[in-house]
Formats: sequence, C-alpha cells, structure tokens
Amino acid sequence: GQGPVVAVDGPAGAGKSTAARRMAERLGFLYLDSGAMYRALALKALQHGVDLRDETQLLHLLDMTRIELDGAGHQKPLVLVDGQDVTRLLRSPEVNASVSVVAGFPRIREEMVRRQREMSRAGHVIMDGRDIGTYVLPSADLKFYLTASLEARAQRRLQDLTGMGFPADLAELAEEIRHRDALDSERAVGPLKQAPDAIYIDTTDMEVDHVVDMMLSIYRQRV
Ligand code: C5P
Repeated sequence: GQGPVVAVDGPAGAGKSTAARRMAERLGFLYLDSGAMYRALALKALQHGVDLRDETQLLHLLDMTRIELDGAGHQKPLVLVDGQDVTRLLRSPEVNASVSVVAGFPRIREEMVRRQREMSRAGHVIMDGRDIGTYVLPSADLKFYLTASLEARAQRRLQDLTGMGFPADLAELAEEIRHRDALDSERAVGPLKQAPDAIYIDTTDMEVDHVVDMMLSIYRQRV
C-alpha cells in the first residue's frame, strides 16, 4: 500500500523547508519542496522573457518544462529544470519578486498540484508549501503549520541569502516577505491557510533542531 504522507505549510521564512528536509532525512522519506516548482517556472519565464502576467503563455511554458525535485540523498536537495541544476538561482531576488504572481494563476496551480500529487503517490513523503494540507494532500497522515514573527522570518532569510552570497538588507527582506505573504494569503485559489487538523508550531524562539525533534515526536505518537 501507500506509505505515510506529511504536509508542512506556513508563510515564507518560517523554517518549513529546513525542518521538513531534516525530518525527511531522519525518517528516510522523500522531501518535496513545492515552492521550488513555482520558483522554477518563474525563473524560466524570466530567462525566456515570457510575460509574467500572461497565464496562457506561462501554462504553455510549464507544459514544456520538466521540474525534478531531487529530495533524497543530498544535504541540500537539488532542483533540476530540464536537467539543469538551478538550485541557487531559485533563491534570487528576481525570482522572489515574481514567484507569487506566477503562483496566483488557477491553471498554473492546477498543473503544479497534479504534478505534486503524482510525485507523492507512493508515500514516504514530506511536502512543504502553502496549500499542501488544505488542498494538495488533504488526507495526509500528519499536517503541520509552522509560523514565526515577521522579524524572525526576515532574519532567517537574511542569513540564508548572505550564506549563499546574495547581498541582502533586513528591512527590504521584511517588506518583501510581508508583500509575498499578503499575495499568498489573499489569492482565490490555494491560499496560504492553516488546515483545521494541522498542528500549529510558532518557531519564533525555537532552534531548528528543537522544531525537528518536536515534529518527530508528534509523528511517532500519531502515525
Ligand atoms: O516556499 P517558498 O517560499 O519557496 O515558495 C515560494 C512561493 O511559491 C510562495 O511565496 C508562493 O507564492 C508559491 N507557493 C505556492 N504554493 C505552494 C508553495 C509555494 O503558491 N504550495
């Protein structure tokens, strides 16, 4: 039969991807970063000069795009677009600024969700995103909703970006995150929302190791 499925949702910078990735390592599961798929399409659109406001053109581009999430066997999972490693490019300021626009189109989401369900069909999967527990995988065995204060989230993004060699400014990051959260929460399809059966964790004052331990102990109690 199908193996367990864990959904992790929350706003930008809440520590979802780090916590989900480490939890997947500890359980020997596949880690699937759904945000990377929207980022991959935004990146390809920027590279090909496709109008980011044109849903039909974006959908056509997506139909010609292979996105592979290499969720196992790497410290930092690789994202391949048409066979090319774009992992680092997906975090660029240009992609940050356009991804929520691309992710706001219903037909783009429909195709992404189809691919996400397909990738998680066999189970033994942890997927993170915005609408995983509410829409993509509503019958997940376990759901988490991770959040943190805007300030803490901006601080974490600052560390991530400077660690990858992107110059960044704390106040600008806070504004970018706030704007992206607003777009993600207010859109009509697949908005960011806590599922009623998701476990809420505020990570503001928590080290990521502590978050992972907590998630694992809940997993062992419930699944
Ligand atoms: O998780 P991450 O911050 O990398 O996601 C980037 C963007 O992709 C989000 O701000 C959101 O616009 C979009 N996204 C989404 N649905 C998901 C995951 C990400 O709309 N399940």
